[in-house]
Amino acid sequence: MFPVTGSDTNGGNAWAALERHRDERAGTSLRDLFDADADRGERLAVTVGDLWVDYSKQPVTDETISLLADLAVQLDLPGFVDRMMAGERVNTTEDRPALHTALRSPAGTRVLVDGTDVMPRVTETLDRMAEVADSLRSGQLTGVTGRPITSIVSLGIGGSHLGPAMATSALTHLADPTIDVRFASNLDGAEISTVLADLDPATTLVLICSKTFTTMETMVAAETARAWLVDDLGSDVSAHLAAATAATDLAEKFGISPDLTFALPDWVGGRFSLPSAVGLGLMAAIGPDAFREMLAGMHLVDDHLASAPVHSNGPMLLGLFDVWHRTILGTSSLAVVPYSSQLDGFAPWFQQVSMESLGKRVTAGGGPVAGPTGPVVWGSTGTDGQHAFFQMLHQGTEPIPVDLIGFARPTADPYMAHHGRLMANLFAQAEALAFGMSAEEAAAAGTPSRLVAHRTFPGNRPSTTILAPELTPSVLGQLVALYEHRTVVAGAAWGINPFDQWGVELGKTLAVRIADELADDPGDLAHDSSTNSLISRYRQLRGHSA
Ligand code: F6P
Repeated sequence: MFPVTGSDTNGGNAWAALERHRDERAGTSLRDLFDADADRGERLAVTVGDLWVDYSKQPVTDETISLLADLAVQLDLPGFVDRMMAGERVNTTEDRPALHTALRSPAGTRVLVDGTDVMPRVTETLDRMAEVADSLRSGQLTGVTGRPITSIVSLGIGGSHLGPAMATSALTHLADPTIDVRFASNLDGAEISTVLADLDPATTLVLICSKTFTTMETMVAAETARAWLVDDLGSDVSAHLAAATAATDLAEKFGISPDLTFALPDWVGGRFSLPSAVGLGLMAAIGPDAFREMLAGMHLVDDHLASAPVHSNGPMLLGLFDVWHRTILGTSSLAVVPYSSQLDGFAPWFQQVSMESLGKRVTAGGGPVAGPTGPVVWGSTGTDGQHAFFQMLHQGTEPIPVDLIGFARPTADPYMAHHGRLMANLFAQAEALAFGMSAEEAAAAGTPSRLVAHRTFPGNRPSTTILAPELTPSVLGQLVALYEHRTVVAGAAWGINPFDQWGVELGKTLAVRIADELADDPGDLAHDSSTNSLISRYRQLRGHSA
């Protein structure tokens, strides 16, 4: 379908074999595959730590797995993973390692970057975060008035927001109810004003999360929050400001004390930075021990990725299935639906991880890619999604692969009325998507003939079900690492650099220029006629002269 052979990502034979295999198995449905193999549901699954990853409802056979494993070997994907984890500069366009795995390696591990072991600094930052989190949780961290800090407002955007906000919501059942951790990311001042509205500056710590400490959204919010503190507390508000950043000099200039500045290494990409200092708000909420459990869960999956053979390697397989779907079968999106209201941030978090990593049209070497790369990633929680977009998943004109994530035990179930039904819905959706309902079955169920076509479900709609015992910090860490690694694997298979994000730069630069033009008389505007007109109209509506 796509001209994948001959790409500068190599693996030519394996790509061609996958295309042939697709053509040979055309017309084989999931019904056929399940009918032919009574054990398929047990066999086509992999255990990753506490996660049971059932991929039997994906359009794959043993032969598909073996051909995907051949592709992985021909492209040396395990070698890429090894080089990433060893601290090599796999982020070639930014000339950096991509070492998020070091952030969750146990203390005492040696991870070398340019011959220097980075682990002592990783451990030191984590220990300092734990000290601050502990003193906050015990009421000993005080502000300028001497009153204990009880609220944290975490400012940041993208990777400096989505992961920590997602994880704080996910683990809310473990959070200390006396500590109020809030997030603001949007440049719209309405958000930060709502977030700050009912907080007391005297008991609030503002945590500025920005790797670069230059991102417009975060710096504007930081200035607003600092002004809010100063208005109430006077000019010395350093006890109320903390930073997680790689630009510690800029944080200091902003007025943040070194004691409350936590370094982000430059070899951690923003979207992979949940286990870093941007997680301080999360750590304050759930406590350092639970935070370390989350890191241990991530590390467990890192180890699995590095050591399991391809055919039983969960993140490797999921990444290869993404490649199978996108490149060979031609699907264009991937839906992610956790059956947990507390995981409402998971799809948005993974959307950035995947789309910022894989939305590329040139290879790491700078040549054009040979076919489509990352899918559109989207989703929401079940069962809400069932009442929004599942209609399209079941009866739309094209198959959309979907991940369904669920837990055997609930985090809360008042009167025991909810959880069984929630999980019944997950299992029902996976079954209905895969097997559908034929016209004969619909008619036999008494459907009037004029409605049979409407009430027919084609089935053969792919899904992966991930079942975990419970939403613990470790399980959350395992899910995060699983999804991070599948993304890196797919990126490496497509030959792109999954660690840069040059595509966000042009709009950012233009926004800085236009912000000046909106604020002051811009004179003659030199954009295109549409942008010129929009800027002029905006200024008129704001009462500025044209
Ligand atoms: O969206 C672009 C981006 O650079 C992301 O990669 C990053 O997570 C986000 O902006 C925030 O960047 P920073 O942490 O430097 O403020």
